[in-house]
Amino acid sequence: MSLPKDNKDSIPEPTKGLEGIVAADTTLSSVNGEKGILRYCGYNIDDLAFSTTFEETICLLYDNELPNKERLDEMTKNIGEARVLPKEVIEIITELVGKTSPMSTLRTVVSVLGHYEKNVPLKELPPKALRLVGQIATAVAMIHRSRENLPIIEADPTKGHAEDFLKMLHGTDSSKTQVNALNLYLILLADHGFNASTFSARVTAGTLANLHSAITSAVGTLSGPLHGGANEKAMDMIIEVGTKKKASDYIQNAFDTKQKIMGFGHRVYKVDDARKPHLKKMAKKIWEEKNDMKLFEVSEEIEKQVKDRKAIITNVDFYSAPLLYGLDIPTDLFTPLFAMSRIAGWTAHVLEQYRNNRLIRPRARYVGQIDRTFRPIEQR
Ligand code: SDX
Repeated sequence: MSLPKDNKDSIPEPTKGLEGIVAADTTLSSVNGEKGILRYCGYNIDDLAFSTTFEETICLLYDNELPNKERLDEMTKNIGEARVLPKEVIEIITELVGKTSPMSTLRTVVSVLGHYEKNVPLKELPPKALRLVGQIATAVAMIHRSRENLPIIEADPTKGHAEDFLKMLHGTDSSKTQVNALNLYLILLADHGFNASTFSARVTAGTLANLHSAITSAVGTLSGPLHGGANEKAMDMIIEVGTKKKASDYIQNAFDTKQKIMGFGHRVYKVDDARKPHLKKMAKKIWEEKNDMKLFEVSEEIEKQVKDRKAIITNVDFYSAPLLYGLDIPTDLFTPLFAMSRIAGWTAHVLEQYRNNRLIRPRARYVGQIDRTFRPIEQR
């Protein structure tokens, strides 16, 4: 882009999408895109994925340490007791469902929940943040039950988060494999460096706006199909392809028409997403338990057809899709499920931002016209 000739500000060329720009330090998660490694507070997710619970991940992100049994029991109880919503919020959900998407409803719910919370000093923020972790799960389940005109299932604070959510959603008990699958999903999507929605939360927190304002920003940001919305689109694609033999033509057409294939590509990963193998393994297990491998095999075939044509990575959203679908979660709840997990990382990042804050305010390079002569309206 040629600059106006007399632009005095010698501002360097912008970096599109802030690619590669390091905006701040964090101790929460590290993403090694070259090697495909994700760590939470130094622990490799490969060690956490099948051996811990989502509640342990929250303890890790909040305390910077894995919990002992006492701390974990306390966290599980606190989140369990937080899985309740004010009746006015339930009324808003009932009013909105069917009129707007579940993600728009969830964004509204987060914003309204802020009215029921006082602005508190930093040291009192973790319990406030944990309430939101619990409430988001209940809100997602309630959005579904309300639009299907099903009776609301009260939370059971004695249950783990994953198990209780599935009960509130389906109204029935889930198998151990199903609970483990959701638990794995919630662990793996909890945090991921300065992804767009997390960065959005930090920019908002950076002005010292309150926690609910920051999380409302994050929910809105996550909803986009280039970010958290990709899982829903990936599932739509897998269902549309429908059989292994149709995958090749579908993917060829997608490339020929220059479409972005949902669930593939990433700003940071140069090899497959660190989370993919675990999500794929668990998705397969879920469908084996259902004794119906068709959609999982279509997923694998789509991935093969994409990779046969382009050196492109499989990201977190591709196998999240058949995993969640295998848990009988409606496709348009997939991104709200992403938010149910990422609320752990978002709140941890907001706390980290507040603890060592500086307003986040980059510059822009002005490339418009300069020094134009003003003419009053009569002369225009
Ligand atoms: C998440 O940042 C995070 O950490 C996010 C996340 C998290 O945990 O928070 O990991 C979660 O958001 C995962 C990403 C989910 N989104 C999608 O699956 C949507 C599809 N993917 C793309 O839109 C894209 O890959 C992005 C948005 C994810 C990344 O975009 P970039 O870094 O801006 O890359 P780009 O669009 O500039 O693409 C680079 C090249 C282009 O080819 P050329 O024009 O150079 O030939 O790769 C191609 C792109 O066309 N490309 C794709 C593609 N993704 C990139 N081509 C086809 N399908 C795709 N999905």
